[in-house]
Order: sequence, then C-alpha cells, then structure tokens
Amino acid sequence: MSSRRLAALLALLVAGHPAAARGQRQTVDFDRGWRFHLGDVPGAKVATFDDASWRLLDVPHDWSIEGPFSADNPAGVAGGALPGGVGWYRKTFVVPARDTGQMVFVEFDGVYRNSEVWINGQYLGKRPYGYSSFRYELTPHLRYGPARNVIAVRVDNSQQPNSRWYSGSGIYRHVRLVKTKAVHVDQWGTYITTPQVTADSGTVTIRTVIRDESPRDERVTLRTVVYDSAGRDVASASTEAVVPRDSVVEIAQDLVVRSPALWSVERPYLYRAVSRVMCGSRTCDTYETRFGVRTFAFDAARGFFLNGKPLKIRGVCLHHDLGALGAAVNTRAIERQLEIIRAMGVNGLRTSHNPPAPELLDLTDRMGFLVLDEAFDMWKKEKTKYDYHLDWDAWHVRDLSDMVRRDRNHPSVVMWSIGNEVMEQWTDGDTTAAPIARELAGIVRRLDPTRPITSANNNGSSGNPLFHAGALDLLGHNYHHEAWANFPTQFPGAKLIITEAMSALNSRGVYEQPSDSVAVYYTPYEKNRGPQPPTNGRISSYDNRHAFWGSLHEESLRLFERYPFLSGMFIWQGIDYLGEPTPYEWPARSSYFGVVDLAGFPKDPFYLYQSVWTERPMLHLLPHWNWAAGDTIDVWAYTNADEVELFLNGASLGVKRKTEPVSHLMWRVAYAPGTLRAVARTGGQVTATGEVKTAGGPARLELVPDRTRLAADGNDLSFVTVQVLDASGVPVPTADQLVCFRVAGDARIVGLDNGDQISHAPFQADWVQLFNGKALVIVRAGERAGPVTLTAESQGVAPASVRIDLGVRH
Ligand code: GAL
Repeated sequence: MSSRRLAALLALLVAGHPAAARGQRQTVDFDRGWRFHLGDVPGAKVATFDDASWRLLDVPHDWSIEGPFSADNPAGVAGGALPGGVGWYRKTFVVPARDTGQMVFVEFDGVYRNSEVWINGQYLGKRPYGYSSFRYELTPHLRYGPARNVIAVRVDNSQQPNSRWYSGSGIYRHVRLVKTKAVHVDQWGTYITTPQVTADSGTVTIRTVIRDESPRDERVTLRTVVYDSAGRDVASASTEAVVPRDSVVEIAQDLVVRSPALWSVERPYLYRAVSRVMCGSRTCDTYETRFGVRTFAFDAARGFFLNGKPLKIRGVCLHHDLGALGAAVNTRAIERQLEIIRAMGVNGLRTSHNPPAPELLDLTDRMGFLVLDEAFDMWKKEKTKYDYHLDWDAWHVRDLSDMVRRDRNHPSVVMWSIGNEVMEQWTDGDTTAAPIARELAGIVRRLDPTRPITSANNNGSSGNPLFHAGALDLLGHNYHHEAWANFPTQFPGAKLIITEAMSALNSRGVYEQPSDSVAVYYTPYEKNRGPQPPTNGRISSYDNRHAFWGSLHEESLRLFERYPFLSGMFIWQGIDYLGEPTPYEWPARSSYFGVVDLAGFPKDPFYLYQSVWTERPMLHLLPHWNWAAGDTIDVWAYTNADEVELFLNGASLGVKRKTEPVSHLMWRVAYAPGTLRAVARTGGQVTATGEVKTAGGPARLELVPDRTRLAADGNDLSFVTVQVLDASGVPVPTADQLVCFRVAGDARIVGLDNGDQISHAPFQADWVQLFNGKALVIVRAGERAGPVTLTAESQGVAPASVRIDLGVRH
C-alpha cells in the first residue's frame, strides 16, 4: 500500500480515538488524506460525489506555489506571478458510534480565500478573509458508526488581483476536529491577564467562558490549575456556577503565583493553565492555555519597557510565505525563519499585514519575540481591485474580533495594529477615517484593554485624520526617517513606534562598483522619476539602493538607535517574500526588500544589524574575492569592534576606525587574486577576524544541512545549502551550476530555491541552479525512522551526499 493510501485510510480511522468515549475534549489532527481538484466542480459539495480520481494530499497545502510562474497569471508580479483560481478539497471520515452525543467542530486556521464548507451536502458557511481562523459545528449533520461523512471545501481565489503580495491559495494552514461534551470551554474560551506583577507575586486573572449546548441548565465547578514550566502546580482556584442552557457563562478567577518567573526576550518563560470543568463528579471538559507573566509599558519620551527595563523593539516585518514552500504552514519552516532573524539581533516581529498562523505566535512565545499583531492592509477603500475592501462591511467586526480573541493570551503579542497604510489616512476632512479607526479600536479595547493599539501610517503629516481620531494608543509611522527627529514636537506627548522603515533593495551576492553611489529606485509606474535599476533584474548588495519612500539600512538604523522616544522599529523586510518585486516588473517575481533572501541566505546588510544589535564580537567582509585583473573593488567591513585592519595577500591596506556605531568601514582596493584578511580590534585586543579568498575553478559540490537529525513525523524539515567548492575547498561565489538531487530513504524534496528574484524555475522539482554560489534544497521527513541520504550531482564537478537520520523526537 502506498504511504498516501495508508494516510487516507488512517484519516478515515482517526476520528475513532478511544478518548472520545471517555467524554473528554479530544482534538484530532485533520490534515491528512484530503482529495484535491484544481478547478470548479459545483457538484463536489454533494456527499455522494465521486472524487476517486482527485489528487490525494495532506494539508496545509498551497496550490499556487506549484506554479508555473507566468506574466499572464492575474495576480500579477505583485502577487508573485503565480496562479490563483478555484480549488476543491474533500475529505471522507468516520465518526464512531460512541461519539454520539459529543459536539464535533471542524477548525480551520486559515483558508485563502472565500472558503465555503459543506458537511454531507449541508452548507456550513463562507469565510472570505483568507487569514482568519474559524470553525463550524458539524454535530447535527454527522453520521455515526461505519457510515462515511464527507466534508467539502470550495476555495475561490479566482478574482485577482486581491493582494499586494503573494497570498497562496487553498487550505494553507492546519485543520483539526474538536470533540467536546455539550458543556465545554468555548472556542478561544480563556482570557488570561496578569494585572499585578512584582518580584514576590503575580496576579493571574483568568476569565473562562463555558458554553452549555444541552437542553438544561448545568451546575459546574471550574477548577483551574496553573503549572510552571517544570510541570509543578503553582496556583489553583475553584469556582461554582450555573451555565444557562443554550448559553454561556463567564467565570473570572484570580490566582496568585508566588515569585513568578517573568516572560522576557532572553528567557521566554511560559506557564500553563489547565481549566477543568466538572459537571457534578464528571469531568466535562479540560482545556489548556499557555501564557506568560510580564509587564510592559510604552513611554512617550523613553520608549518601551519590558518588566521595568528599557528595551528597544528591534523588529522586522514578515509576510506569511515560507519561500519555496509557499504559504503552506510548516512549523519548522517558521521556526527557521525566526532563528535566522534572531541571529541578526532581531527581537520583534510585525505580522504584516494580517493575522498570522497560530504556530507563529506559539513560536514567538517560546523563542522570545515581541509581536505587533496586525489585522488588515485595507479598510473600506481598495488597494487592489478585488481585495478585502469588498468584504469590509460584512466581515471586519468578526475578523478583527476573532483575531484578538484567538491571540490575546500570547505573551509575545504586545501591540495590536488595526491597519497598514489604509487609504482612509489620505482623506483629510473625509468622514470615514476617524469613525472607522474608533470603531476598530473600540472592538479591540473591549476584548483586550491590556495592549496598546496602533496603525501603520505612511501619511506622517499632522493632518493624518487617524492621528486625531483619538483611537490610537501608539502612533505608528511608516518611513519618513527625515521627520523622526521632530516627532516629539510634532506629536507632543504621543507614544511613538516606527511600524515600517528601510525598503532598501538588494540581491544576494551582487556587487556593483563603486559602492559609494547611492541609487534611489521607483516603482515601475513611476520609473522615469529616477535612475533605472540594472536591466538584468539584480540589485547591488552593498547597502546603497533603496525605494524612494525608504532609506538605506544604515540611515534609518542610525536614527532609530539615536532617538530614545522611538520605542521600536520594524524593517521592511526581514526576509524576501514572493511578490512585490519593486522596482521591477516581470520577469521579476519576488521582493528585493529582505535583509535575507527568499531562500533564507543573509544578504550583506544582515551583518550591519548584527554589528549593532548583537554583543558577540563579529566581523563580516564583503564582497567575495573573485574579480578580474585591473578591477577596483570596494571592500566593506561590518563589525562591532572599534577598528579593522585589512590585508591583501599579507600586505596591510590600513586600519579604519569606526567613528559611529551604525556604520561600515570601507577600503578601495586594486584587485589582485589571493586572500583578503581582516582583523578587528577593540582597545588593541583582537576580537574577531575575517577572510575572503579567491576561489579556483569548480571542483566539487558541498551539502550543508541545517539539521541532520529529524523527527520521523512527516513534517520535519532539513534545509540543506548547496555550494560548489574549488579543489582546495573554497566556495566558488560566482557558481551557477545546475544541480540534480536524489533521495534514498523515507524523505522527499519539497522545495528548492536560490534566492534569485527573477528565476522562473519551479520550486518543486529535483534540480536547482545555483545563484551566486548558493542554492537551497528542502527535505521533508517521512514517518519511517532510519537513515536518509541526499545526493547532489552536477556536470563537471564531483557529487556530494549527506546523511540525515529520521526518528529523533525534538
Ligand atoms: C509599504 C507597505 C508594504 C510594502 C512596502 C514596500 O508602504 O506598507 O506593504 O508595500 O511599502 O516598500
């Protein structure tokens, strides 16, 4: 039996876990064994429809990433030039007879977009916004015992463009079945705050909503226990209440945790609250919530404070795509993104411009990032023809409320954003902006008064009606770094955050000489206003190129670090994303804004941030050292030391001292092949060294996996970097070989990329072309423990292979 058939069979059986019979809440992974068809098949909502010929797959799934890229795809290059369309998913499952009387819900973390769901032919509803999490109750429509149930989902992403970036299409986040008794904790039914925190004690207030779907009022006891991260019971409370039939009751409990361990960026300590609902002597429900104990504050003059200590929020904006994996959620892929940006010194994240996957916030809780959770990219006024403005009137209250209710227990979330650069900010004197802002802020504040509300504004003028609406706790500014110095006088008493900055433009490994000429690029439709970007679609990676509304990395970073009243800043963007390839049109299809490329390889400005935002002594030299005789090359160094001495083939090219912490050092060098070596010193002591060597001709491939031990869980990933080395083992920085792969063992290749913004190679293949010496291959674990071998071959060079072991539990 193929593993896919087996998965389908397991999916059939999965709903029959014995825990269901015991009357406990049961959460069942519902990702496996869906049938998928790309194209509209109206009859597919009918339970008896024959889907046997449809493709069998597991969700999360994104059909857009399967390609191909085309200038004709209606999403346009802004949407990644990948296809949209209508797709159908169907899943057949059984519910054991012993589950009769249980309530059964299906939960979708996100479907892009316009999903409509049927169970056994019964219509359950529609959810236009592709970033919202939602659920439907299945109970009245289910068949129990051996009879089959069919859930059918129609996804309509055909009206394009509907996004300014790549959205992905399909059931791209997780799905689960939740089974409860009639009396149960409601969806997102706990709300935990920590109103009083001192070193000796923390008050934990837990509000729990209990729902009773039975025909009689139910007397319950809610017993809540808080456990520390070692599993010790540290506080508890018991409360009795009556839940009226077909209604809810909210129970508030105050618990005190002695000497609480505080959640912080350095030590993201998490507690767990377990809510047990007792109906007489029976347990009706058990529900878990992770939370943290921390205090934070924003101050108009002094910025952000976490647990009483000043801390600048050094953040990046991230869209939701995972490069070659598209929008399909994979926890390890998100974790890797966070590890990469953490290595550059980042401690903050803005979920631009939509509610994220729940896994992202679980990770930011665990890893210690401060999150600005954002709801919308537009309100009533459109940005693209078919975007959410069409759904605004009917859905914004629900979508915003659901985001706050879902995310408000995450200690990492410290701010809400009600919108990004909404068009209403420009309509001074118009009557829509302030009322909408106040309505949205009111919704958020009612559900969570503990976090400040902001919005990201690119209309920085005092005339922006959002600034006067009385809705925002924090004034969020996008760009306009030249105006930052005046903010305290322009906005007296306001708390300030830079919700977006930079929009610098770079392609990894591309270096145009000389490096000291700054170019400002425009969008394609304004291209005649400035210098034209190179016709080959690649932009130099010295920090000397930016979009006209932005700045160089160095410029904005310097100012941000200078002004204590700026509580935080989010770089546009942390990691390249699919879509929005400003300043180009087709054939470009992904962004140039990332500090890291689409494959996850740092561009050089990454090390600028590292030199300012991390403590460990570091030194980064650029560019590579494979040039032509007679070339004059600008050599840059990023370091956190005081000075750097540069040597070419042993001869000193001089010492450069840093006179400003946010800066690079530069030498203009007459190129000669050999070794460029740099020594960083502080107070005369060597703190770090760096070296770049001229590579000879390509001799052999090298595979460098980020991890060689994976869980055999069908989800875990190894991100393997592919390089070409010369005969002495020096990476060839200009290599552009085509490399083919083979996998032996229970794993498969699920994505390939090289970070090149104009590549049209498929992300799903068994080959990749190196771009400036590097490419990435993503290997996904199967479910059978044992060794896996990935082999890479390319013409004219020696092959390479690497062993990855499956079976380890992380
Ligand atoms: C901002 C916008 C982002 C992105 C960025 C590109 O104005 O908020 O979504 O478009 O520009 O520079």
